Amino acid sequence: MTLFDFFEAAGLPVPALTPEQAGQIAARQFGLDAQVSALGSQQDANFLLSDPSGEPIGVLKIANPAFSRPELEAQDAAAAFIAAAEGIRTATNIERPGAPSIVEIDAGGTVFARIIRYLPGGTLSGDGYLRPAQVAAIGDLAGRTCRALAAFDHPGVDRVLQWDLRHGMRTVEVLAAHVGDVHRRQAVESAAAGAWRVVAALAEDLPVQVIHGDITGDNVVCAGTGERPDGIIDFGDLMRSWTVAELAVAVATLLRHEGSGPAATLPAIHAFHAVRPLAPAEVEALWPLVVLRSAVLVVSGVHQSWIDAENSYATSALQHEWRIFQRASEIPLEVMTAQIRHELGVARPAEQIIGEVPLIPETRGIVRLDLSVESDAMDGGAWLEPDCEELLAREALAAGAAAVVTAFGQPRLTRSATLSQTSPATVATGVQMWPATALALTAPWPGLVETETGALTLTGTAGTVELRGPLRPADTGDSVAAGAELATIDGPVWIQVRRHGCHGEVPRFVRPEYAAGWLDQVSDPAAVLGLPSDAGSPAGPDEDSAALRQRRSRAFAEVQEHYYEHPPRIERGWREHLIDIDGRSYLDMVNNVAILGHGHPELADTVARQWRRLNTNSRFNYASVVALSERLAATLPDPLDTVFLVNSGSEADDLALRLAMAATGRHDVVAVAEAYHGWTYATDAISTSIADNPNALATRPSWVHTVPSPNAYRGEHRGNDASKYAPEAAGKIRELAAQGNPPAAFICEPFYGNAGGMALPDGYLAAVYAAVRATGGLAIADEVQVGYGRTGRWFWAFEQQGVVPDIVCVAKAMGNGQPLGAVITTKAIADAYRTQGYFFSSAGGSPVSCVVGLTVLDALETERLQENALSVGDHLKARINHLATRHPLIGTVHGSGLYLGVELVRDRATLEPAVEETAGICERMRELGVIVQPTGDRQNVLKMKPPMCITRESADYFVDMLERVLTTGW
Ligand SMILES: Cc1ncc(COP(=O)(O)O)c(C=O)c1O
Repeated sequence: MTLFDFFEAAGLPVPALTPEQAGQIAARQFGLDAQVSALGSQQDANFLLSDPSGEPIGVLKIANPAFSRPELEAQDAAAAFIAAAEGIRTATNIERPGAPSIVEIDAGGTVFARIIRYLPGGTLSGDGYLRPAQVAAIGDLAGRTCRALAAFDHPGVDRVLQWDLRHGMRTVEVLAAHVGDVHRRQAVESAAAGAWRVVAALAEDLPVQVIHGDITGDNVVCAGTGERPDGIIDFGDLMRSWTVAELAVAVATLLRHEGSGPAATLPAIHAFHAVRPLAPAEVEALWPLVVLRSAVLVVSGVHQSWIDAENSYATSALQHEWRIFQRASEIPLEVMTAQIRHELGVARPAEQIIGEVPLIPETRGIVRLDLSVESDAMDGGAWLEPDCEELLAREALAAGAAAVVTAFGQPRLTRSATLSQTSPATVATGVQMWPATALALTAPWPGLVETETGALTLTGTAGTVELRGPLRPADTGDSVAAGAELATIDGPVWIQVRRHGCHGEVPRFVRPEYAAGWLDQVSDPAAVLGLPSDAGSPAGPDEDSAALRQRRSRAFAEVQEHYYEHPPRIERGWREHLIDIDGRSYLDMVNNVAILGHGHPELADTVARQWRRLNTNSRFNYASVVALSERLAATLPDPLDTVFLVNSGSEADDLALRLAMAATGRHDVVAVAEAYHGWTYATDAISTSIADNPNALATRPSWVHTVPSPNAYRGEHRGNDASKYAPEAAGKIRELAAQGNPPAAFICEPFYGNAGGMALPDGYLAAVYAAVRATGGLAIADEVQVGYGRTGRWFWAFEQQGVVPDIVCVAKAMGNGQPLGAVITTKAIADAYRTQGYFFSSAGGSPVSCVVGLTVLDALETERLQENALSVGDHLKARINHLATRHPLIGTVHGSGLYLGVELVRDRATLEPAVEETAGICERMRELGVIVQPTGDRQNVLKMKPPMCITRESADYFVDMLERVLTTGW
């Protein structure tokens, strides 16, 4: 029996069978009376068979007549083999009683039919976003498949398929003519030829075995929705080929998905390598094979839709096939291969190129310019000036530098971009040099000189040095000797040193994800200039985020958690933006502490000035502690006129409890369920948020009593019924009093921040405050999160409820991040503390803290931040509410001003919390440049409490990205 040979066969239209005919085959040949629906396929005819209740029984596969029985037997055997060897769920043949496993049918010609196990769970078909963990799982499945099939063989695998990348170039040559557009055709032919040159030279060293040949999103199955894939279907391309082709096929199809690109496939490559380590030749061949596969996909897709115009599966695939091709080719082969080597830890360290003679005769007086994220020159948003680099260089020259030289391989903050959906190209592949006066350069090695206006290259055995800028080439002719005069420069020049065999042009700046690959093509020009390498310069290579996180986990108690599984290394902030070490800027939607924004220059200057002048404790008599106390008291209604200064929200709440206990002589406290009030012994006791402490409800001391969270959206009383919470809470307080435990205080956030920014039901605080006061207790407002104008309409959130508390606690915003908190109460309550002794906090109310507090209050006013919170907050809320009309996942939008919470639910009727979805959305938002986090006991609320200086443009960016994620997946 001859096996299929693509190059001998005519086209492969899918067998033309209707679901009715398929139903008859299932009944007659396999004794199965089933409901039938057609499934798409490029080559076979597939039908889903279900029982009367709609439960899938299996998949009826009518193989393309071009394929022989041994080929189908091989596929069934391989599916069973992999399942047994690796425990991977596979689409194995379902043997029916009384029927052969493969049935021969005469349908005009002979075709083979069989029933394959249906794997429940759904595939990762389509172009939607795949999480890095899903990408890795596909690589892992490919690796385990190869590991298993290495021990498998069968007479039906030696077929000649167009999908066998060993025939990839031939396939492209045969089919490319079908690509009508000549530019596209040439692009495919040339990319395939370039890839083939590399692969052909490595072919002898590439191991060959049986492979599945089509492990793609369409052909993997997940155990649950959105889960990692754990099963493989469709063994129709089973063949003998290069082992690494299994990975190349999987990687290529990953490129079709939303937001993908070569770097996004790296988790799959890592995962494959971890299971089935790639040999050196396989590492070198991998990306060329990805490009080749993408070319094969395109030409085959065009060809298939030509011979089988009716096959909508094939024609609709063309768009994503072109996308795969375009993305596979977007990074030069050698660059991506170097990047893969680096990622797998198998890169050989490239040698530094050093000239025989330095490029510049005199290196004294040369100043290195640090343009990194951590550079002091970047403070105050300096990098946002379009000519920042030039200005800094001119400054250094004016200060007497002989020349100024930037750093090689450094991610430059000056190349960063705010509100960017992908990482910007920040990493320098050369250096910029500004000479103080005209400077003659000498040839570092003998070689050939090529010039054009404003550019000169010298190529010798060491490599190529390229100069770009205002230069006058020396009159040397085409070749120069080492040490001969090369050119005179009298302005800033760009210097790049390229290695031999490097991919032609190397962009001046590249994206950090590809920096290792691109930097492998070049060498540090500092060594050619005669300067010490950048490794020793102030802006030398920095520790990456993963390495830093490992160090952190060794030295810093891990219970102090971090955001994100793979957190970026954030080293700078500016207004509502946070910037990582690679110069990637993120929109910060969570930092409610930094109300003025990050890196506030005036605040920084004030602190620095005060540090130089005085910092001591409040037992000394100085003006700022008085001024801050007066200013705070002035923001509050009578009789709240007496201030304590502390260092944090926990301390403020703790002190408030002590004050209430001292003033009432009682011990019991009533708090609201699901709240967080701090980490000290007393504030932890009254915190019952299980998001902050999973054991919170089980570990309450007897003096703590809770009333239900007055949640009008999903609590016991919803909508208008929420008015029932207040009488219930008041009843609880009266009940405690009647039992002989009248509470010292009732404490709650007057706008429920920790529950996601929920307004309390109207009249709630008025009723509960009245009840607690009626029993002789005090009302404490925890304004740590929601005070200071954040809600836009009110400076203090308790104003929304039309009440005046007895004690107000504030922190966070009050210091814009400086440890600073306050308790403001009445003189009488404050004086009652005397019964406890005296109150002293070493740093609370220090001169530095006080000037910070005053500057924050000034800036709040002059920068009109409360007004901004109102206008941008309302705009943000309106836009998200509008999004909710299109995306049912958004259950509701809580909050006011710039304290908002987007509650995500799986079902608007049951309100089932969309917990995994919320976590996934936060991860995807980070990839798109937005920092947002879940909150609430169910962790299904996106909390939005950005710096209050956030612009409307940034708020729009947030909503646009949320819409993109809700539309394309997470
Ligand atoms: C409502 C509330 N109160 C108190 C605190 C404790 O503040 P700090 O972290 O400054 O101790 C927090 C902190 O998240 C809070 O959200």
